[in-house]
Amino acid sequence: MTTTPFGVQTAVRTTAVAARATDLTKVYGQGETQVVALDAVSVEFRQAEFTAIMGPSGSGKSTLMHCMAGLDSVSGGSARIGDTELTSLNDKKLTRLRRDKIGFIFQAFNLLPTLNALENITLPMDIAGRKPDKQWLDMVVDTVGLSGRLKHRPNQLSGGQQQRVAVARALAGRPEIMFADEPTGNLDSRSGAEVLGFLRNSVRELGQTVVMVTHDPVAASYADRVVFLADGRIVDELREPTADAVLDRMKRFDAKGRTS
Ligand SMILES: Nc1ncnc2c1ncn2[C@@H]1O[C@H](COP(=O)(O)OP(=O)(O)OP(=O)(O)O)[C@@H](O)[C@H]1O
Ligand SMILES: [Mg+2]
Repeated sequence: MTTTPFGVQTAVRTTAVAARATDLTKVYGQGETQVVALDAVSVEFRQAEFTAIMGPSGSGKSTLMHCMAGLDSVSGGSARIGDTELTSLNDKKLTRLRRDKIGFIFQAFNLLPTLNALENITLPMDIAGRKPDKQWLDMVVDTVGLSGRLKHRPNQLSGGQQQRVAVARALAGRPEIMFADEPTGNLDSRSGAEVLGFLRNSVRELGQTVVMVTHDPVAASYADRVVFLADGRIVDELREPTADAVLDRMKRFDAKGRTS
C-alpha cells in the first residue's frame, strides 16, 4: 500500500472517460448577432487526467466548460458526464448531477459575502444535505492554506485567499470531475503554484479528474495534456506539456492568426 501526502492509498489509474463532448455546438443569439461559440467540438476527458484548455479570448473555453458542466444548454451535439447524457436530463436531474458529481471554479469566485470561509466551502454540501468528510475537508483546507482564515468573510480576505476558498469549495465534496475556469488568474505566483500543485496531486494521487482553463503556459505545464481552442474549434493538442512547448505552440497560432 502506498501512503501519500494526502494520507490515502494511491488511486489506480483508469482509462475510463469522465466526460465527453461529441460534435458539441453552442450558438448564442440569432440573426446578425449570432455567435457560434462552439463549432462541433469533440473531446474526451479521461478519469484521473489533468487537462488544460487554452486559446485566445473569445475562443469558447468558458462556453465549453459551462456546457460540459451542465451550467449552460447546448445547441447541438452531445455532452456526457460518465455515462449520462446531459441533454437528456430535466432541470431537476441536471441540478442533482451538478451537485453530486461536478466541482466548478468560476472565473469570478462567486462567494457569498455573508458567509465565512468555512461556510462558503461547505455550502454546496449543506444545500445537498450531505455531511462533509471531515478528514478530507481538513486536508483540503490545509493544502490551500486557509486553516487560519475559516471564520473570515470574503471581504476580510485577500483576492488570492478568496480564490483559494473557491478552490476548496469545489474540491470539498470530492466531485467526480472538476472544471476550473482560470483558477489561478487572480493569484500571485506562489499561491498559484500551490493551487496548481494541489490540483495536480489530487489527479495523481487521488484519481481526481480536472479540466482547467488557463492563459498561462506555466500553469498549463502542470497538466497531463493541453487542448487548444480557436474560434470554437479544437485546433491542436499537446501531451506532457512543458511551459516552453506550450509557449511555442501559442506563438505559432498567433503567427497564423496574423497571416490569415
Ligand atoms: N451569453 C452570451 N451571449 C452571447 N454571446 C456570448 C455569451 N457568452 C459568450 N458569448 C460569446 O461566445 C464566444 C466565446 O466566449 P467564451 O466566454 O467561451 O470565451 P473564452 O474563450 O472563455 O474567452 P476568455 O479567455 O476571454 O474568457 C465569444 O465570442 C463571446 O462573445
Ligand atoms: Mg472565459
